[in-house]
Amino acid sequence: MIQIIPITSRETYSVRHAVLRKGRPVEDCRFSGDELGTTFHLGAFEKDKIIGVATFLMNKDIDLEQIKHIKLHHCYQLRGMAVLEIAQGKGIGKKLLKHAEKLLKEKHIQSLWFNARVNATSFYENMGYEIVSEPFIIPKVGDHYKMMKLL
Ligand SMILES: CC(C)(COP(=O)(O)OP(=O)(O)OC[C@H]1O[C@@H](n2cnc3c(N)ncnc32)[C@H](O)[C@@H]1OP(=O)(O)O)[C@@H](O)C(=O)NCCC(=O)NCCS
Repeated sequence: MIQIIPITSRETYSVRHAVLRKGRPVEDCRFSGDELGTTFHLGAFEKDKIIGVATFLMNKDIDLEQIKHIKLHHCYQLRGMAVLEIAQGKGIGKKLLKHAEKLLKEKHIQSLWFNARVNATSFYENMGYEIVSEPFIIPKVGDHYKMMKLL
């Protein structure tokens, strides 16, 4: 049984490090905005072991309104979405993101956007997100697309 619960930024590090920052210093697991009052972090737990994480920051992307041709007041950005390799493909990422979407809707957030790694875009498309940019490179991480969904 998988439980999705709020966690601290520090609690995200073990999964961020293993999945997103493999072989890099653990300090690289700290993201700007992690500690802001409007930021929240979710963890997926199997028994008492953390196996998935995601972080949500209040942040409006400057291009989103032009892309959607509407005025967006409340936007969040997803960062650091990761599930431990041994637990991938079992529906945990989907459960984590669905839980977050419910919380964001309760906060009257209109849109969730993020920079998606190329190999994860199908996962997000499967959940109703659309690619809204040309591919671009994030240094040290690789090729990305900007993706978003109106909640
Ligand atoms: C991307 C990631 C978060 C998805 O989490 P997950 O728990 O493995 O995904 P789920 O099992 O919940 O998958 C949900 C659906 O998406 C599909 N899916 C999952 N990962 C996919 C991928 N990389 N490409 C295509 N489809 C994918 C699954 O087949 C499943 O489809 P279904 O609902 O039709 O059965 C996880 O695989 C991961 O951490 N990957 C490495 C790090 C990464 O790329 N993070 C994203 C950074 S932007």
